[in-house]
Amino acid sequence: MQKEASVSEKLGDIPADEFRRHLHEVADWIADYRENIAANRISPAAELGAIGAALPISAPEQGEPMDGILADFQRVIFPGITHWAHPQFMGYFGATTTGPGILAEMLTAALNVNAMTWRTSPAATELETVVLRWLQQWLGLGKEFDGVVYDTASISTMHALAAAREEASTSIRTLGLSGRSELPIFRIYASDQAHSSIEKAAIALGIGEHNVRRIASDSEFRLDVQALRQTIAADLRKQFMPLAVVATVGTTSTASVDPVSAIAAVCREHQIWLHVDAAYGGGLALLPECEWVKEGWDEADSLVINPHKMLFVPFDFSALYVREIARLRNVFTLVPDYLRGDAAGAEINYMDYGVQLGRRFRALKAWIVWRAFGREGIAARIREHLRLAQLFTGWIDDDARFQLAAPTIMGVVCFRLKATDDATRDRLNSRIVETINAAGETYLMQTKLRGRAVMRLGLGNLLTTEEHLRAVWEIIRGAADSAA
Ligand SMILES: Cc1ncc(COP(=O)(O)O)c(C=O)c1O
Repeated sequence: MQKEASVSEKLGDIPADEFRRHLHEVADWIADYRENIAANRISPAAELGAIGAALPISAPEQGEPMDGILADFQRVIFPGITHWAHPQFMGYFGATTTGPGILAEMLTAALNVNAMTWRTSPAATELETVVLRWLQQWLGLGKEFDGVVYDTASISTMHALAAAREEASTSIRTLGLSGRSELPIFRIYASDQAHSSIEKAAIALGIGEHNVRRIASDSEFRLDVQALRQTIAADLRKQFMPLAVVATVGTTSTASVDPVSAIAAVCREHQIWLHVDAAYGGGLALLPECEWVKEGWDEADSLVINPHKMLFVPFDFSALYVREIARLRNVFTLVPDYLRGDAAGAEINYMDYGVQLGRRFRALKAWIVWRAFGREGIAARIREHLRLAQLFTGWIDDDARFQLAAPTIMGVVCFRLKATDDATRDRLNSRIVETINAAGETYLMQTKLRGRAVMRLGLGNLLTTEEHLRAVWEIIRGAADSAA
């Protein structure tokens, strides 16, 4: 006679054999998806709200079989996906999905550990230190720097600026900002091309969005150091306190690179924190021929790089390096009684370095991807993206209807269709991107440079080949023909 399952057996997870069956099914689904990804429309034809409307309004009262749930994933969710990993997706900085990255994410999900203290999973903490050191060597940052992994560059920058804020006035951690008339107005400086995450950080840190001073950029979209000096001097005359300068290495719209050394000299003069936002461009440091990209980094107080933008680590993974990282740790370490046991005795508990307590085991995917490709393999793939970007730039140059809108420095190309006047040109360029994206065969972005619309193409996907790029160019030319 078969023994009847106990209550706890009945209440546990789905049966092991069922889990195994679905795991194989999902593994095959993922392999098929990767193999046939180019057959998908990139942006879905979904109407706004249609996916939400196809799902029940109320949460399920009773459990449902996995077969039905996975079938609904295929039927309702999948058609609403924008396929970032498609080789002709050229939005943002492309996508960094890879086979090793997917395998790593599966293992991470299975382990589901929390990397808040060393004791809550020693390997998660120690591997984080290891991959941060590997990356540090690639970036050429000296021993005086140490790192910490967060989810995004926005969070990394916010933490860097929190440390800068504490440096400017040591009591903010304990006393805060409100009601303190003795505190000056703090200012943060960044170019007009820098990322909006700086304002977000200023909002979160109580510095205020308006106290981020945007400095004019030069004709190649690099921060104008003379203008920075003038703005700081004007602020000092008003008794404001310069807190930090954010120099960008690889700006979001054009991938321009600020003159970090010259900015560092200004920071030294006035004892201002220098944060380098190398979220995208930092990846170039892995290429020996791109040594130039590291210029000035050794003078920074902090630097952020997002390996999920160029270094093939799946979203999300951002690394912040801080010179004398105790300056960051001192702002955020706080150990409640219930964590004292787990926090005791460890050299590093990464929860001490930021706002968040619970932390994903992100190091595993970086470790697996970087071992699978090696520095040389990563560099070769980035080099190919740079080659493709230059090739595309050549096509723009050779077609009299188009013009480049910014120099091509990394895997990003900004260009526009010419027109008789600014307003017509803005309308045309904007319409072309919208039309192309709606058709689903490629995905570009539109941005504004000096207030005027441009098209922007970003390369970063290791599945993208020259043939894919040629196909995208034909689509753009075809759209330009129809728009004219
Ligand atoms: C230069 C730069 N910095 C910061 C960010 C913000 O990145 P995240 O999405 O990781 O917060 C971006 C986003 O594209 C960026 O281009």
